[in-house]
Amino acid sequence: MPDNYLPQVRSQYEALPYPARDPEEDRKRLVLTWLEDLPMINHYCFAGKQSFQKGFRALMAGGGTGDATIFLAEQLRAVNAANAQVVHLDMSEASIALAKRRAEIRGLNNITWVHDSLLNLPSLDVGKFDYINCSGVLHHLADPDLGFKALRSVLKDDGAIGLMVYATTGRTGVYQMQALMRLVNDNPGGEPLNEQRKIANARDLLASLPASNWFMRSEDLHHDHKAGDAGIYDLLLHSQDRSYTAGELFDWLEDGYGMHLAFTDVQRGRSPYLPHMVLGSKPPNMAAALRKLPRRRQHEMAELMIGNIITHSLYATRDASCTAPYGDAQYIPFFFHEPLTGEIAAQVFGRNRGQPFLLQHQHSGVSVMVNPGKYGPKILALIDGRRSFGEIFDLFRASWQGKAAAPDNAALFADFAESFETLNALDRLLLKHPDADAAAAG
Ligand SMILES: C[S@@+](CC[C@H](N)C(=O)[O-])C[C@H]1O[C@@H](n2cnc3c(N)ncnc32)[C@H](O)[C@@H]1O
Repeated sequence: MPDNYLPQVRSQYEALPYPARDPEEDRKRLVLTWLEDLPMINHYCFAGKQSFQKGFRALMAGGGTGDATIFLAEQLRAVNAANAQVVHLDMSEASIALAKRRAEIRGLNNITWVHDSLLNLPSLDVGKFDYINCSGVLHHLADPDLGFKALRSVLKDDGAIGLMVYATTGRTGVYQMQALMRLVNDNPGGEPLNEQRKIANARDLLASLPASNWFMRSEDLHHDHKAGDAGIYDLLLHSQDRSYTAGELFDWLEDGYGMHLAFTDVQRGRSPYLPHMVLGSKPPNMAAALRKLPRRRQHEMAELMIGNIITHSLYATRDASCTAPYGDAQYIPFFFHEPLTGEIAAQVFGRNRGQPFLLQHQHSGVSVMVNPGKYGPKILALIDGRRSFGEIFDLFRASWQGKAAAPDNAALFADFAESFETLNALDRLLLKHPDADAAAAG
């Protein structure tokens, strides 16, 4: 392997594979990753038309101890994607060994292992990929853009990248703590401290810092410092760690590479990137104006408003048409990420008799005023994950009792738009095209 990596970063991940995982745990539980759910990938990356059956190939670049690799490989096995392949690449041998053992325990045989630097991808002869996951990796490279170029060199023209990089605002306290640890661990004139000594110093300080310390103030946003040595090192002692604002990601990936970015925060979807959803229960006077701003500007503002986005998770795709479109009657809407049914959603959206109501969504913490439209609850009640919008609207019209003519599809799509947008922004309502299901069944 040519020296195409940072030696200190490699030695960290050899000594402390991240995230720390005991392969035996795989006998009991499957770790889920937010970006790798097949229905999410389908909705945001393949316009809802991906069957995963036609030799789907995924690369886990800097796959670490294997969370995303195992989750994706399990799902591809479950949908009988016979020719699908997951390639797990990492420069840490110790991390690959753990990921491999997890796959063995699960009897997964659709994974290929590559011990190398992702910067070598252009010359590795690994073929091209439909989907590349690169989570928590680019911000540890000396030149993240070189890493992104390497990923793009093996991405199919219609492929997509699931990316996670650190977020600046939510990690304010982390960077202050890292600066403090550098001062504490500096040993002028003496031997550099080893990893264990640095971890011991971090533990010591964490137990003593006052509540006014910026890391302590925001401590509940972070978990790694409670997850053992590997977590402490990754969060507070990393030798190469940078973060991005949403605006910087647009500059880098949209302006720089012409890619479309679909942000989706764990459990919250894109809601923390939308001012009207962040400020929802107490909309300011300027609320209406904020919603009219370009998407990018809304994301930049919302990140500063909410303050607690610690990582940016997003799909980078060729263009906006990779997201399944709202407004096409062929598409099938389905609830996702929590056990929601049409009946339950209809009750919630119908509780103010068609008038705007305050949606208080527990899992995401979002409270937002929603206009359910005249027909929202009735449409929601007909969503069962099998019917297309066209079929739902036909059923709606079949029970129409109004004096005027029943609304056509365009009128129903317009009426339901705010309800859809709200549930979709939370990633609770997604879309798929019937062709994807047909190909999977055939
Ligand atoms: C923070 S861990 C993230 C692991 C995994 N992606 C996850 O989200 O659970 C970063 C991983 O990137 C790997 N890595 C860092 N630089 C790399 C490079 N140039 N090439 C390949 N892997 C790299 C490290 O070895 C480590 O396993």
